[in-house]
Amino acid sequence: MKYLVTGGAGFVGSHLIESLLAENHEVVCLDNFSTGKETNIEGFKENITIINGDIRDPNKVRVALKDVEAVYHLAAQISVARSVREPIFDASVNIEGIINLLESILTSDINRLIFVSTGGAIYGEPLQIPATEITEEKPISPYGISKLTSEIYLQWYHKIHGISYSIIRPANIYGPRQDPLGEAGVISIFLGNIYSNQPVTIYGDGTDTRDYIFVKDIANICMKAMESSYCNTYNAGTGIETNLLDLVKVIEEATGQKAEKEFKPPRPGDVKHIALDSSKALDDFKWKPQNDLLSGVRTTWKWFLSTQKS
Ligand SMILES: NC(=O)c1ccc[n+]([C@@H]2O[C@H](COP(=O)([O-])OP(=O)(O)OC[C@H]3O[C@@H](n4cnc5c(N)ncnc54)[C@H](O)[C@@H]3O)[C@@H](O)[C@H]2O)c1
Repeated sequence: MKYLVTGGAGFVGSHLIESLLAENHEVVCLDNFSTGKETNIEGFKENITIINGDIRDPNKVRVALKDVEAVYHLAAQISVARSVREPIFDASVNIEGIINLLESILTSDINRLIFVSTGGAIYGEPLQIPATEITEEKPISPYGISKLTSEIYLQWYHKIHGISYSIIRPANIYGPRQDPLGEAGVISIFLGNIYSNQPVTIYGDGTDTRDYIFVKDIANICMKAMESSYCNTYNAGTGIETNLLDLVKVIEEATGQKAEKEFKPPRPGDVKHIALDSSKALDDFKWKPQNDLLSGVRTTWKWFLSTQKS
């Protein structure tokens, strides 16, 4: 198969491309390298077609879709904090981006689209945790709102134009290649802090919980969703809530180093508690996470150290 991966030079997209290449698929990567990096794809960039362009640019998207059979859509503004500061920018990339992509798909031979949404930000503060796909979506950040809006557009294009799709709602993804200097990805940020002997910053009192899922598990569910013909929405998490204080302990165990903690007030837009029930993905795709938090953080730390030496 020949796939387009939007946002393929990013953290998750680069792992997805690697997994697709391992299964001998052809890949086109559309990315504007705003947060994506050359280094993320340097191990395999000769084996893919790279188009440097914006997901909102109809001409670039049309070129990227040429001869492609199906699309993984990951290009996005991903920071909750930035979405709070710049909601217009967030909506432009995330909502205008997917509409532009879907409009171009209408004039192509594309037969399926997998959209990577968010499970961490779409439910807001659910009454019951882990949240299932029928938990009411009540996002409390512009990022959560733009992802939910994108999902609704996608469902509209499915209903009116018959585009086949599945939506993946991942929990908090972590792993090699996540930017330690970025605004999202607390595990990479903390690993970067520890490496440079800086305190780790905890917003709130450290009791906020998240569901941490390893990046390879997300690449895997995206591919399983593509192979299926279900048009549906799937959570992708472990179902396990880990609070920030316990996360720091796991990081200390994985790195063998002590972390100094610095506490700051909670940030607007951040949810207090979330974890995802992914039993629907288990039923439909036979998917379940293969990596536990400690081993995933160890792998990420090893990768982080290797980048500091080079
Ligand atoms: N990292 C997480 O914890 C997490 C959790 C849930 C969902 N997601 C979703 O997974 C997807 C990938 O996120 P990531 O963590 O790899 O982030 P990332 O920032 O590393 O990847 C996003 C990619 O999209 C590209 N991009 C951004 N704006 C673009 C534009 N206008 N045109 C073309 N390309 C553009 C960036 O350059 C980058 O390569 C996103 O859709 C994100 O919302 C991430």
